[in-house]
Amino acid sequence: MAIGKNSKIELKTAEQFRLMKEAGLILSAALDTAVAAAAVGVSTAEIDQLFAAELAKAGAKSNFLGYYGYPATICTSVNEQIVHGIPNDRKLEDGDLVSIDGGAIIGGWHADSARTVIVGSADPADVELSAATEAAMWRGIAAMASASRVGEIGDAIDDFVTEKYGQKFGIIEDYTGHGIGSAMHMDPDVLNYRSRHRGPKLRAGMALAIEPLLVRGGIANRTLEDEWTVVTEDGQRAAHWEHSVAVHPGGIWVLTAPDGGAAKLAPLGVKPAPLP
Ligand code: MF3
Ligand code: CO
Repeated sequence: MAIGKNSKIELKTAEQFRLMKEAGLILSAALDTAVAAAAVGVSTAEIDQLFAAELAKAGAKSNFLGYYGYPATICTSVNEQIVHGIPNDRKLEDGDLVSIDGGAIIGGWHADSARTVIVGSADPADVELSAATEAAMWRGIAAMASASRVGEIGDAIDDFVTEKYGQKFGIIEDYTGHGIGSAMHMDPDVLNYRSRHRGPKLRAGMALAIEPLLVRGGIANRTLEDEWTVVTEDGQRAAHWEHSVAVHPGGIWVLTAPDGGAAKLAPLGVKPAPLP
């Protein structure tokens, strides 16, 4: 994106946001099902089937399936897998940490959201990693309520992680949040860290997917032979949380949360505004 130009950013109408919210609520319910199903002895392919069935039942299409040839409706990234893990027949084991990332389309309008869950007896360090990632996501979302530029989202995420956890957790820099709307991945990129690039102006009509990826070790990563699964170089574990968020004339609304984010944003002093 050329500096100072907003021309490539899609601005949504009220009706388009309504469809995105519909997709977001179906996605939220399907993720509830997926998260509830994640347990010791269950395979990630079985979770994918349950998620796919929920979308179909609700009349939504998957934006993941067939995306550059992607073979499933969710990404399941287990342990040292950071993002874009492909569901398979391996059964989840006690203490596995799995991020479940899914999406849905209604009437051509997209939603994208991810949660991390730990099955069986959790390592407290994994619980803290996932909690830090989720909290960082909410800091980024809260920043959207008052930010004048997209770069302030990354500032908020980065400052929170650094101030609360010091060097304990790393923020992956090779993958970012993104604009979302008539396609899943659109301009602008939403960095999860502080940068000199302040980004485009944040304007009513924009929708952004906020999705920090945090690791217990170093941020170096590589993609496996399957050309999708991204893993940490040092084998340490990673967590991923994501919501799709609308900026509209009245304020912000989390499209992939049934309450628009109200419960999680209240402690941060932000009250989401219902879409017009
Ligand atoms: N939600 C994922 C992201 O924004 C997109 C997954 S693309 C897929 O990174 F092809 F893997 F589905
Ligand atoms: Co995304």
